[in-house]
Amino acid sequence: MNLKKLSAAALSILLTSTLALAQTGELIFSYDFESTKDGWSGRQNEKLELTGDAAHNGKQCLKVSNRQASWNGGMVKSDGLKAGHSYYFECYVMYYNSKHKTHKHQLCASYKLNGETKYVDLRTITCKSGYWYKVYATISFPNDVTDIGFYVQSLYKENNETNNDRLDIYIDDALCYEDTTVAPVEMVNPDSITSLKDYYSKYFKIGTSVSTYELSKEIATKHIKKHCNSITCENETKPDALLDQKKTQATGKVCVTINDNTKAIMDFCVENDIAFRGHTLVWYSQTPDWFFNKDFKDNGTKLNKTDMSIRLEQYVQAVFEAISSTCPNLKLYAFDVVNEAFENDGGGIRGWSNWSNIYKDESFMDSAFTYARKYAPKNCKLYYNDYNEYMTKKTDDMYNLVKRLYDNGVCDGVGMQSHLDCSYPTVDDVRTTIKKFLSIGDNIDLQVTELDITIKNNYTDKDQAALYKGLFDLYVEHADHISSVTLWGTSDGVSWRKENNQRPLLFDDSYSPKLSYFAVVHEDAPEYLTADPIKYPAPDPEPDVIGKLLSVNDEALENLKIYGKTGVVVIETANNAKVDVCIFQIDGRMVGHYTIDGYAEISLPSGVYIVDKQKIVIM
Ligand code: G3I
Repeated sequence: MNLKKLSAAALSILLTSTLALAQTGELIFSYDFESTKDGWSGRQNEKLELTGDAAHNGKQCLKVSNRQASWNGGMVKSDGLKAGHSYYFECYVMYYNSKHKTHKHQLCASYKLNGETKYVDLRTITCKSGYWYKVYATISFPNDVTDIGFYVQSLYKENNETNNDRLDIYIDDALCYEDTTVAPVEMVNPDSITSLKDYYSKYFKIGTSVSTYELSKEIATKHIKKHCNSITCENETKPDALLDQKKTQATGKVCVTINDNTKAIMDFCVENDIAFRGHTLVWYSQTPDWFFNKDFKDNGTKLNKTDMSIRLEQYVQAVFEAISSTCPNLKLYAFDVVNEAFENDGGGIRGWSNWSNIYKDESFMDSAFTYARKYAPKNCKLYYNDYNEYMTKKTDDMYNLVKRLYDNGVCDGVGMQSHLDCSYPTVDDVRTTIKKFLSIGDNIDLQVTELDITIKNNYTDKDQAALYKGLFDLYVEHADHISSVTLWGTSDGVSWRKENNQRPLLFDDSYSPKLSYFAVVHEDAPEYLTADPIKYPAPDPEPDVIGKLLSVNDEALENLKIYGKTGVVVIETANNAKVDVCIFQIDGRMVGHYTIDGYAEISLPSGVYIVDKQKIVIM
């Protein structure tokens, strides 16, 4: 039923009685689910039906079943929901499961921006089984978005879902009205913002990692062209992508093939005059076992150090030759010759690596750098690259290695991966690390190679923005010795750390600039990024007990016996099964909520009661 069809008097009663929170704008929709669910749908293959099994008010509600994931649920869309407006939405939710006493439901909104769907968690509430809870929020939808909807799901879980995360959801009494008290959002147009590469052009290159699949998205390529003048392949130039086992076995010499995925990224760089970082030659990971085995066999004996060095030289030579022959115009300006060779805590060389197992010392790194210097183009600088570089014992290990290689003329610098978190490290920790690395020599070069900052626990976008700002200011201070700063991913949605809403980059899933972007280009961020877009952040509501818990489809309820005796209602369950039952007065007010374990007599004054849809008369 659409409330627009109700009389003005009825409408005003409903609004003042249920809302009373803010000045109301136009009512967009309301549903009591007594006659229709038009406008509602699932998010995947859920079944949505009107049911008399339960109701918050009236006789029916909406039941969402056949949920395959925590994010499956009931979603409502309406042509009345417009971009650039704010809306208040509320509904009542309930679940029933006698074994699962509490469950978290989430009210969310979603919309499309620049072709990408954005999901906004509006509110999470903890519900007790069998009780109806009101869940509500106001959200401002940005300009230019489409496909707006509200939905109810279980608390989103990326991993470790159980059947409890897919329980049926009951929804009732949903309504939505425009909230004219909240100003519409003026979204920043990504085309109008300052280019990162231009902003930092005096200081260093701005890079991003790229995976081939992103090149087929116009929004991604536009973003990269605007903001970046350096690209690192996220996976496409790692040993497992380059080494060609078939050719190698056929020729008896290490062969490298630049496959179509890798070539696509290199061609993109050439077409758009973007410089290229090579990542990586020698790594314990993503390097096939056969590379270390006799006769290049999948399962063979490992080579000795001398033979492995011959193979290492062939490999390094083959990589540089393959790049220059496949993509002669590529501006290959940097290469991570060795990646992640050290343990974190100053434990020296990583033990569990084919490289360290064969060499038993650090000399594979000296050899790799010597060969890289021999075969790399003259203007391609060579780096040792690692993470947790700011942990002091690891800084020392990296320093000692790079100092030796630098003094021997085979290494140009340190790659500081910089996979950070809002909680650690601080800007001062990074300052100390940079100073230590700069003391390697006058011409040492530093590159920030994989920067991202996760937001976890109670940290916020503002904390992330502050750390990004502190770091970029620090990089500018040392710009004479920092030649590029690469972010590990273009936008939050493609980051290797995208899970659990860690949103580690400068741009969100829709490639829109975040607070952190504005922090590093030293511009004022628009209000929608600084203000909380969700109004009424009240604590978890109390359950709304006016409503009926009826025979929800639960095995334990099937053989339930309910009857009246003098002064008591008797409730019996088969096989001592546990059930939750609500008893109501005839006018709908609840008398109580009881958990019955087989048999119970509940004393009540004489009168007529409703228990599980039945009228029970107590004398
Ligand atoms: O391409 C295969 C696909 O065919 C297969 O079906 C699928 C199944 O898991 O895997 C796909 O490969 C994945 C690959 O990314 C491409 O998406 C791998 O499983 C996955 O492990 C790999 O993760 C990469 C990771 O390095 C591997 O170590 C990340 O994308 C990449 O961001 C990450 O980057 C590393 C840097 O190289 C070094 N520093 C740390 C950084 C983050 O871990």
